[in-house]
Amino acid sequence: MDKKDFKRTLVTAALPYANGPVHIGHLAGVYVPADIYVRYKRLQGENVLFVGGSDEHGVPVTIRARKEGCSVQDIVDRYHNLIKTSFERFGISFDVYSRTTSKIHHQFASDFFKYLNDHGKFIQQESEQFYDEATQEFLTDRNIKGECPVCHAADANGDQCEKCGSTLSPDELINPVNAINGNPLVKRKTTHWYLPLNEYQPWLEEWILKEHKEWRPNVYGQCKSWLDADLRPRAVTRDLNWGIPVPVEGAEGKVLYVWFDAPIGYISNTKELCDAHPEYGNWETWWKDDSTRLIHFIGKDNIVFHCIVFPTMLKAHGGYILPDNVPSNEFLNLEGEKISTSRNWAIWLNEYLDEFPGKQDVLRYVLTANAPETKDNDFTWRDYQACNNNELVAIFGNFVNRAVVLTHKYFDGVIPAAGELTDYDRATIAEFKGVKETLSNNIEQFHFREALKDAMNLARIGNKYLADTEPWKLAKTDMKRVETIMNVSLQICANLAIAFEPFLPFTAEKLRAMLGMAEVDWNKLGQLDILADGAKIEKPVLLFEKIEDSVIQAQLDKLARIKQENIIANFKPEPVAKECTFDDFMKLDIRVGKVLECSKVKKADKLLQFKIDDGMGGRTIVSGIAKFYEPADLIGKEVCFIANFPPRKLKGIESQGMILSAEDADGRLVVIGPQGKVKPGVKVG
Ligand code: MF3
Ligand code: ZN
Repeated sequence: MDKKDFKRTLVTAALPYANGPVHIGHLAGVYVPADIYVRYKRLQGENVLFVGGSDEHGVPVTIRARKEGCSVQDIVDRYHNLIKTSFERFGISFDVYSRTTSKIHHQFASDFFKYLNDHGKFIQQESEQFYDEATQEFLTDRNIKGECPVCHAADANGDQCEKCGSTLSPDELINPVNAINGNPLVKRKTTHWYLPLNEYQPWLEEWILKEHKEWRPNVYGQCKSWLDADLRPRAVTRDLNWGIPVPVEGAEGKVLYVWFDAPIGYISNTKELCDAHPEYGNWETWWKDDSTRLIHFIGKDNIVFHCIVFPTMLKAHGGYILPDNVPSNEFLNLEGEKISTSRNWAIWLNEYLDEFPGKQDVLRYVLTANAPETKDNDFTWRDYQACNNNELVAIFGNFVNRAVVLTHKYFDGVIPAAGELTDYDRATIAEFKGVKETLSNNIEQFHFREALKDAMNLARIGNKYLADTEPWKLAKTDMKRVETIMNVSLQICANLAIAFEPFLPFTAEKLRAMLGMAEVDWNKLGQLDILADGAKIEKPVLLFEKIEDSVIQAQLDKLARIKQENIIANFKPEPVAKECTFDDFMKLDIRVGKVLECSKVKKADKLLQFKIDDGMGGRTIVSGIAKFYEPADLIGKEVCFIANFPPRKLKGIESQGMILSAEDADGRLVVIGPQGKVKPGVKVG
């Protein structure tokens, strides 16, 4: 079907696991772009539905429940509610946000499975899985621990060894045990239902590789490598006691695999909404009518499920539409490190909302401007501050504020009519005439960073226009001209209120209220007759405010504390070295010395050069601890050093020994010295 024939757009955003709050990585990757897209479509007057919800099955929620010592239902209730309210507060404008523990979903997913099963779409296979005889349960990879076959670390996970990074399967572990209680495991036979993806391989190749070449390169590329590696049947059931029971006789103790039921949540949540609110239409129109365009917003770890597995489920069932596009982002890092729920290395949305009231749009702006659309990207608090202070405050906010303040000053808040336009006015207007098309095209193609730049460019044009025309100077001599300038400036403000609505909805709303704009019409974008002459505008309110260094520092300190907690929590002493004898030890000549001089080594940011009083006329030592000390702080300190290493040159300086140090809880090196007064040159032993 031809793209232009679509009559409605159904947008889904990956259902977040209800095992913790959502963080900026989720927002940047999925929810902010999805929301921009949906808001834009609504502005255009398109029929669009935005579906979300919490993913409440799977192993992660059960692990969280055990960790916190409460029931799984408690966990999913808590996080579902937290996530749902956080999204609302942040302005993610879902039409429906439900959950996969809902009755409707359980019924729907169960029926979907049953239909496929009754129509012979699955195969059943027997396999051997690890089983805990004491608790009478089969274990998933993540719940198994054992000795790493590669580095022999004691507690490697069933899927990976954290020590050496090897990818593992539980079968490879030496002495696998139940990670929760340490019980030994046995192998036991179990039967599962499999979706034979291999049978759909030719169809998938045709549908994705030939018909969807326009998908983002990261998405297309991942699909291609899955397809190139040949698909295999995938288990869609699990031996677990949390989830949707497999609706087949004799399948007691088995549930649907979380990745089978969760995407069906998109459908059941649509149904839940439409059944309760007929004004949203019939759910089947959204999911079964060819003239619906289906778009899945997801993160990159979800690609295979949304491009290969879920479409295969829909195809196997028949009657359903397939996604038209699956815009997936890469990952967002935080201050240079991978975001991690378990290490608490994240900025949690609920905490941000509490700590930065009224600043939803600042975060929305930063996450869009730095969105990881084509590659992983980094969020830093300094960047956040710079975006706010140098762009939102200095350009957008400053322009709007001047336009509104001057209109009050010269015209009592009444919008003056424009007189004759100068060439300069016309050039300015010409500059933003094309914005509607570029901005729209960028959003349609899921290029949200570029689209945001287009919108911001309007503010830049406005800011420059006021700076160049200087109405405050003309006010004494040429009020007619000032009328025109203020009219043009206010019309640009009105354009901003439209252009930013998808990106910064809270700001756009404030701006609309200030300008007395009753509604937003995307089609007016680029025009100069949005505000009527003679209408009154409201008193100025600040759209953005400067963020001080102290606020940013507080956030950096918070992250530093988390890092420290992680280091302490994860510290494991290195294994003790191979035995040595007293004679071996005596070969090392360790002495006490006193630092006489200490300075940075030029062109070597790690090195410090010491002059040490060694009781034998002094010596020079070069040491790699420059990152951790100010040279002046070490002068006069007593240190221990190895005195009988052969001299070696570092950056042209001959180093005559090595200063001893150890890593502290912050991961910083601290020098080791005697606890009492010891004369330089005395031997340690
Ligand atoms: N809960 C999954 C995750 O966070 C996403 C599920 S998306 C759905 O990675 F399609 F399965 F719903
Ligand atoms: Zn290992």
